Amino acid sequence: MFNPQTLKKDFPIFTHRPDLVYLDSAATALKPQMVIDAEQEYLEQHSTNIARGLYPLAEQTTEKFEKARETVARFIGAQSPQEIVFTSGTTASINLVAQLLEHGILPGQNIVVTEMEHHSNFLPWKELAARKNIEFRIAPIDADERIDLAALAKLVDRETAIVAFSAVSNVLGTINPVQEITAQVKQKNSQALVLVDAAQAIAHIPIDVTEWDADFIAFSAHKAFGPTGVGVLYGKQALLETLSPVTFGGGMVLDACAPTTLYQAIPTRFEAGTPNIGGVIALGAALDYISATSLADIRLHELSLIEYAVQKLQETFRDTIRIIGPQSIQERSGIIAFTLANIHPHDIAHLLGEQNICVRAGEHCTAPLHRALGLSATTRISFSIYNTEQDVDRLVDELKKIVLLLK
Ligand code: ALA
Repeated sequence: MFNPQTLKKDFPIFTHRPDLVYLDSAATALKPQMVIDAEQEYLEQHSTNIARGLYPLAEQTTEKFEKARETVARFIGAQSPQEIVFTSGTTASINLVAQLLEHGILPGQNIVVTEMEHHSNFLPWKELAARKNIEFRIAPIDADERIDLAALAKLVDRETAIVAFSAVSNVLGTINPVQEITAQVKQKNSQALVLVDAAQAIAHIPIDVTEWDADFIAFSAHKAFGPTGVGVLYGKQALLETLSPVTFGGGMVLDACAPTTLYQAIPTRFEAGTPNIGGVIALGAALDYISATSLADIRLHELSLIEYAVQKLQETFRDTIRIIGPQSIQERSGIIAFTLANIHPHDIAHLLGEQNICVRAGEHCTAPLHRALGLSATTRISFSIYNTEQDVDRLVDELKKIVLLLK
């Protein structure tokens, strides 16, 4: 039975800081004990490198590392663990794809992104387009702050090399219809590749990459209760096999002395150097934690919190609050960004912080989105499994005091 008060006990930070109201899980999720234990066990009891040592301790570490790869593959419905490349985070995963594809991009092609992208799914494509001197197209959002699917369809043509968009917006909370968008892109151009930024989706909605049919998917461990410094790039096996590595070094080569260097099979050839071994093992534990808790229940819990919070914020602050994102609660993930009574979001975040209430304020690495909305900054709250209606009540009580103080 899903109970946030019981789940809270899994997160040691609440023992150290019983008064904490953490409403910033979209920036990074808190870490449960079993994730901390998994990383600590690696550091204390294994601590060896992987895929190199021929002694049992190193072989055990390799097994644990590869088991985490299997866990990731299973968690997102990949066909094979070979489709999982470990990186240092979502940003690194998306930059890696941009580098992997650079060589094959031809003059006259174009790249399509959307207005709601985080800078990490915007700038790598903008830069790639500039390097290749090709068109960089930005699909707008519609009046309900969802991707404008008709406008996106018009931007995709026979020259589109890649379409990159997020599964869930880190500001609007919009849950985008990934399967529908991918199908729409492929219908217009079966050769166009699709990359989905799943950073804000991975710990909040069930993902099935086979259903999504996207070519690449990127996410970070730390937004899914895992450690920072670990990320995943999923790529369809047949596609990854056509791509040459762009980072070179130890572990990824078969014959470094051959006239034309021979590289390892996928995914190893994309993982040069020693990875974040303890972090990857801890990511496996984090995904096991989510599976044991049930993503379907997590989604229901976050939906009920969103509904409660939107209603309470609107009832309390009426026409002085502007909540951005889709009107329909069902189309939102556990994220609410807003402006309030002409008070600068930085002041709100600072004053809430003094009361141990953690929120994020600013542009949230989405300058193009904020510009489109005519805003310079918003305050953002984001939920996870450990949040409760009492957290929302405390937030609203403090916001009332801030409005009285600063309006
Ligand atoms: N991408 C993270 C956020 O939206 C850091 O806060």
